Amino acid sequence: MTYFRHKKGVFKHQKGFARRRVAFVMLLVSALLITAIVASTALRASPPTSAAVTPLNVPTLIDSRTQNGPIVIDIKEGEHAFYPGVKSKTSGYNGGYLGPTIKMYKGESTDISFTNHLDEPTNIHGHGLHVVGKIDGGPQNKILPGETWNVTIPVSQQASTNWYHPHLKGSTAKQVHSGLAGFYLIEDGHSLSLGLPNTYGIDDIPLVIQDRNFVDGKMTPYPAGNMPEDLREDTLVVNGTINPYTMVPKSFVRLRLLNGSNARSYEFYLEGEQPFYKIATEGGLLPSPVEITTLKMAPGERNDIVVDMSVIENQKVLARFLPMSYNGFNAALIPFSESQPVLELRADGSLEALASELPTQLNTITPYLEKDVEVERVFELDDMSINGQQMNMKVINHESKLGQLEKWTIDSGRHPFHMHGTSFLILSMNGNPPAPEDQGWKDTIYPNGTAEILLKFDYEAPEQWPYMYHCHILEHEDMGMMGQFTVK
Ligand code: C2O
Ligand code: CU
Ligand code: CU
Repeated sequence: MTYFRHKKGVFKHQKGFARRRVAFVMLLVSALLITAIVASTALRASPPTSAAVTPLNVPTLIDSRTQNGPIVIDIKEGEHAFYPGVKSKTSGYNGGYLGPTIKMYKGESTDISFTNHLDEPTNIHGHGLHVVGKIDGGPQNKILPGETWNVTIPVSQQASTNWYHPHLKGSTAKQVHSGLAGFYLIEDGHSLSLGLPNTYGIDDIPLVIQDRNFVDGKMTPYPAGNMPEDLREDTLVVNGTINPYTMVPKSFVRLRLLNGSNARSYEFYLEGEQPFYKIATEGGLLPSPVEITTLKMAPGERNDIVVDMSVIENQKVLARFLPMSYNGFNAALIPFSESQPVLELRADGSLEALASELPTQLNTITPYLEKDVEVERVFELDDMSINGQQMNMKVINHESKLGQLEKWTIDSGRHPFHMHGTSFLILSMNGNPPAPEDQGWKDTIYPNGTAEILLKFDYEAPEQWPYMYHCHILEHEDMGMMGQFTVK
């Protein structure tokens, strides 16, 4: 096997703000609009410049292999201190905010028992799981207050970073915002044999990235009454901590990034735009690590990255807040100036250097061939609907056949698109073949235009338990930008 060796001080400084566009023409178009945007930009919190002082919160790990009996998850309201000493009202799985990371293994089954202690219905969707509709946890699958949902998840898919969250029509945005989200990590024999960083919380760190508003350190609850069109807030929150740091060994460190925000997209980068490696997309490892300097992520997307901590004492991961449509009109007006800290990695020489090499071969992806496509579908996202239709629980929008290769053309504009039950490969993004770092298995895509994807479904989803496709801006999903389909 060949490996990437540590690079000694190869720090490329790149023009980080080269994409900033000056659009004086736009300024003339509407003075009113400019005033509004300038005002809203001024209201946003400026990034903290001080060093991180809060240790990163790492969700508890529950490893399915060391469990006796089912994993027990209590869904309940609670409290959480985002800022030390100041408690906010939140919800969580077995805790005040977010939930435990559940590690599962390909070829094994995991039993989980979810009990709803909230005073409203909820449910649990396994985002990224390849499972039948009944286990998938779509809007049909309600857990009423006081009820328990016992589920057995047969894991047949490859190693990947997935997550669980509520999915009831009309309350997904509010419930996720209150803190209901957690990781499902899948490993397999191959992924464990590669020598990738995989010591949980030490050199393999899950990070759920969200944005929240705070008043005097307290999280602003989800707006009551009318749902906002897309809730984008001021302060970056990482695993429920703000501007955190964590100690890591002087070796390669893996960060499993999940954009768990309701509506915000980000561009992640390292301070000084230093290079890092992307090793996985939503559905599994890439064929080999791809060196990049920036990484855009829309709500629902996951990407695993690896940072080389052997040659640097301190590395800051930062996030630029992207405007709603970062290639379009808005992008021209709102500069890419607002960055906030995600995580400060501090190398600790006393920690054992676990992964000092990074394999160059990670995975084999056998591409789908366009000539084998049997069905083509088009999805146009606009006006809070998809193909002109809003989600109707009584309407099945299409029927897919088990094992049939489909080509979906997603004309998504500013909407990140996600479907349940499978992973896809990108055929094209806005007319171009996907970049190397996008040539992996995915279940959520934000082409900012049009994408063509290839996919097939290997599990059944009958009328009672159909799969969903939807915009992953949670407000849009709740307002009906969703459809459902069966697989037989
Ligand atoms: Cu992350 Cu249909 O959901
Ligand atoms: Cu999903
Ligand atoms: Cu949308």
